[in-house]
Amino acid sequence: MKVSIIGGGGLVGSSAAVALQLGKIVREIRLVDVNQDLVAGQALDLLHGAALTADQKIVSGGPELSKDADVICITAGLRRKPDESRLDLINRNVTLFRGILGDLKTHGYCKNALVFVVSNPVDVLTYLATKELELSPQQVIGLGTVLDTTRLRSMLAQRLDVPPSQTQVTIYGEHGDSMVPIWSQAQIAGLPLDKYPGVTPALIAEVEKKTRGSGAEVIKKKGGAGFAVGVSIADVIHDIALDRRRIQPISSLQNGAYGIHDVCLSVPTIVGRKGALQHLEVELWPKELAALQKSGNVLRETIDKVLKG
Ligand code: 2OP
Repeated sequence: MKVSIIGGGGLVGSSAAVALQLGKIVREIRLVDVNQDLVAGQALDLLHGAALTADQKIVSGGPELSKDADVICITAGLRRKPDESRLDLINRNVTLFRGILGDLKTHGYCKNALVFVVSNPVDVLTYLATKELELSPQQVIGLGTVLDTTRLRSMLAQRLDVPPSQTQVTIYGEHGDSMVPIWSQAQIAGLPLDKYPGVTPALIAEVEKKTRGSGAEVIKKKGGAGFAVGVSIADVIHDIALDRRRIQPISSLQNGAYGIHDVCLSVPTIVGRKGALQHLEVELWPKELAALQKSGNVLRETIDKVLKG
């Protein structure tokens, strides 16, 4: 499978590329960036390690590299300032993102391609891509709350000193301030979280607060997310490559699950080679459902204001 990463010269894109290289599953990694020297350097650095990582083709260049790509991953965008919400980014990034969509239209893209949006605000930009590209809604997905879920699982596991791989809790809704952790279904090794030794409401609140602030914290400390967002991107791309049909909290155009329509946000979604195959509407606590619907309303208002205003 051929993957092009638009913004492949940057921290997010190059981190996704190295995660794909270490994952050894995709056949071709194409790094695309306006900064041709930087992206050539990223590709060269990856290539230098190929003998110890994976038998893949690694190339860099311009938007023409997305023409026959199977997955087009868009990571390019201006970074949020530590005190700036993701939605504040929108005006600055919508213009840039429209330019990227224009490049795809100019150079062409496969009718069976999947477009995988990571740039922020990811839910709004995913919605924009579903409207502007001639692909079915299931072919346009966003990273959504996959990174938030990964962060929450990882930090909860560290706090409880349990294996992160056995720490199960998922976040749905907006990749942003209105995200919704689904604590009602949280488990450690198949055991209910709220019965696990050491777990208190205060501990849960503490880890949730740290997760909500993780994006801003990592920006403040190192300028922006890299490693965790890279492996989160690769996890979804590997679901696509292997048609694994796992249930992921990716963002996609909603058509009625939980009563939410015509916005992009994260709900339980089966991910396969053809993209967002199915939304699952599994019963939530009433307060979780209300929060999810509020997330949809927040995004609806933003879309109406920014994209349609
Ligand atoms: C974050 O939360 C990049 O939006 C991403 O760090």
